[in-house]
Amino acid sequence: MPNIFQEKEVIIQYFSERGLLIAPDALNTMLRESLGSYVLELISEDSIASGYVTENIVIEAIRKQHTVKAPEYEVDFANVRINSSVDDFRNYFRSRYEKVKRLITLSISMRGTTSIKSAKRLMNGEVKIVGMVQDQNVTVNGNRRLVVEDLEDSITVILMKRNGLAGEVILLDEVIGIVGGISTKDKDPVIFAREIIRPDIPAGSIREYSGEPAIVGSISDIHVGSKTFLGDSFKKMISWIKSGGEETSSLKYLVLSGDVVDGIGVYPSQERDLEIQNPFEQYLRLNDYISEIPEEIKVFIMPGNHDIVRLAEPQPVLPERLRKEFSSNVTFLPNPFNLQLEGRRVLLYHGMSLNDIVELVPGMNFDTIGRAVEEILRRRHLAPRYGGKTPLIPAPEDYHVIEEVPDIFITGHVHSHAMGNYRGVRYVNSSTWQSQTDYQKMMNFSPNPCMLTLFDLNSSNYFAKDFK
Ligand SMILES: [Fe+2]
Repeated sequence: MPNIFQEKEVIIQYFSERGLLIAPDALNTMLRESLGSYVLELISEDSIASGYVTENIVIEAIRKQHTVKAPEYEVDFANVRINSSVDDFRNYFRSRYEKVKRLITLSISMRGTTSIKSAKRLMNGEVKIVGMVQDQNVTVNGNRRLVVEDLEDSITVILMKRNGLAGEVILLDEVIGIVGGISTKDKDPVIFAREIIRPDIPAGSIREYSGEPAIVGSISDIHVGSKTFLGDSFKKMISWIKSGGEETSSLKYLVLSGDVVDGIGVYPSQERDLEIQNPFEQYLRLNDYISEIPEEIKVFIMPGNHDIVRLAEPQPVLPERLRKEFSSNVTFLPNPFNLQLEGRRVLLYHGMSLNDIVELVPGMNFDTIGRAVEEILRRRHLAPRYGGKTPLIPAPEDYHVIEEVPDIFITGHVHSHAMGNYRGVRYVNSSTWQSQTDYQKMMNFSPNPCMLTLFDLNSSNYFAKDFK
């Protein structure tokens, strides 16, 4: 993360060089938004007629960026508030709870779900509740004790070692269904869980399609501008796309799921690793490659944590100043995004939360990232643990709930490459175009770069082409 004091200096210097003054609350808003110096790109100089940058000018500039709609494609992203209040957090968690609860209670096992308050009124017997996990710990007997809450009450739930439930991986803030027996013997009622119900991908929710092949190509984490960007391989892939041979004739879409450039100020001393220091020029270099793609192929660009937008998710589309440099077959999307292509659902997410999943779920690592992707699908939430390594904005609505079952689920970020089929959802953790970085060397992780993953929207086929 960039140092906040450096950011402050950069912003003040930027405006003073232009003979402009900045109000203290305007400066604070910029810093709080973790946009750092990039917010400068958003503020047009004409909006500062009086020579004084007020907080309203900053908020307006950020809001404008949030509400940009991608033409021709469905966008379910809007109204992200800038100033987060306690109410925003309350609304965010309410939205998360209600959306996931709706999915959980579709399960037959959850028929007859009650609120926690009603469950507590029963003296004994079986109860079914849906709760968000607020706390958990292991008891001396090796059982697990959870505290879960709904919109009006909370209750303790015991997962017994005896029936294997104590080993269940449950994340804080996760919304789960619980079926079990309630005991009101003690002062505080307790549920002894018999079953944990996840929203999951229900069997039979994947539609079958037929028709001529229509291929979506998926790449991620290109990191143009870095000294470790694998430009030759990237060029090789672009030439293959351009070749127009039999193999490429069905390729209709290409998705770039974030970290398309290396950015600047993403980690300390990053400038030492950069071939192109100016992020704007990094995007122009990317465009040099992308502009060679035939215009009948639609290209989608989504931001990641290295791109020059707010770090906290949902991330808005790249700024107008950059967008206008790209050709008309390029569409810019926010992160995450539900892309509709020919009636199929392609869910795109850069994948910052995969780091949290790897850290929190025992037995996970970056070499088995497909399992982490499946954990996301099972929970129907792109970032089940609030916070952690995934900065999230408490928007009035939780945009990370996977409300509709996607046909294809695309992630990136961790530089692994893993494809799979989870209960009919075809997924990939897309390959990177950056060789092993010093950090990865230190972490003993070898990326699998330069793979183009190809999904057919009509058959259930998917495969990868190696450009190393
Ligand atoms: Fe990333």
